Amino acid sequence: MTEARSTGKFNKENQSGVVQDIFSSIAPYYDLLNHVLSFGQDIYWRKKTLQHMHFFKTYKCVDLATGTGDVALAVAKKFPEVATVGVDFSPAMIAIANKKKSNRKAKAFLGQVAFQHGDATRLPFADASFDVAVMAFGIRNIPDKQTALNEMSRVVVPGGQVLILEMVSQQNKFFQALYQAYLCNVLPRIARLFSSHRTAYYYLGQSIVHFPSMDQFCMMMQKSGLRVEKIVSMTFGITRLFVGKK
Ligand SMILES: C[S@@+](CC[C@H](N)C(=O)[O-])C[C@H]1O[C@@H](n2cnc3c(N)ncnc32)[C@H](O)[C@@H]1O
Repeated sequence: MTEARSTGKFNKENQSGVVQDIFSSIAPYYDLLNHVLSFGQDIYWRKKTLQHMHFFKTYKCVDLATGTGDVALAVAKKFPEVATVGVDFSPAMIAIANKKKSNRKAKAFLGQVAFQHGDATRLPFADASFDVAVMAFGIRNIPDKQTALNEMSRVVVPGGQVLILEMVSQQNKFFQALYQAYLCNVLPRIARLFSSHRTAYYYLGQSIVHFPSMDQFCMMMQKSGLRVEKIVSMTFGITRLFVGKK
């Protein structure tokens, strides 16, 4: 581990390594932290995302930055006819996803979902392999967002979907101030109880605050060959689902 990685100081060049360290260190607590810090809303956000998925040709889905696999497992459960692969560059997160898969009581869908190690900016899949490429709460961690979007667009079939679920900064000034105070002060303090990683949740807050504006992000999607069909706002616009069609 480099010094920059171990101290948690990061810039655009070493961000990937730091992000990998952060998620490896918080992997065992990731689900619990997510539920606590989002007041349980994360479950609803992922569920809502699935309602916008449309399978019509390959009946395959790729869940990028899958983390502990909740989106991939939910797809496998809701769409038993669809084969899903979850990809993440943190072996610790993938290990938990695999554990959840083998722990599931509803074994009926096993075989429909697999997890593998990989980088969202260099996907090991052929062009037009999937009907749907989805990424939940991953894009803000990726320094080269355009390349990640290009890759998602490349691996879906024409007419296929690229779905990005992400927490975005607020438009309303009053709500923005409250939200930033929560993200930058409250959230890192709660998270420190669970994770020894100094910067983990400070970084999370910053990555939301510095996320591109909605217009900028839509332009990036368009640049990768997608038409932005809709933007679904959830929980007062804290989280948005960008639905792109190739
Ligand atoms: C906030 S978690 C989201 C996990 C999951 N999608 C969810 O809904 O909870 C972000 C995940 O993105 C992964 N990640 C970040 N950059 C990545 C990249 N370039 N390639 C693959 N995974 C990446 C991290 O390892 C982490 O598991």
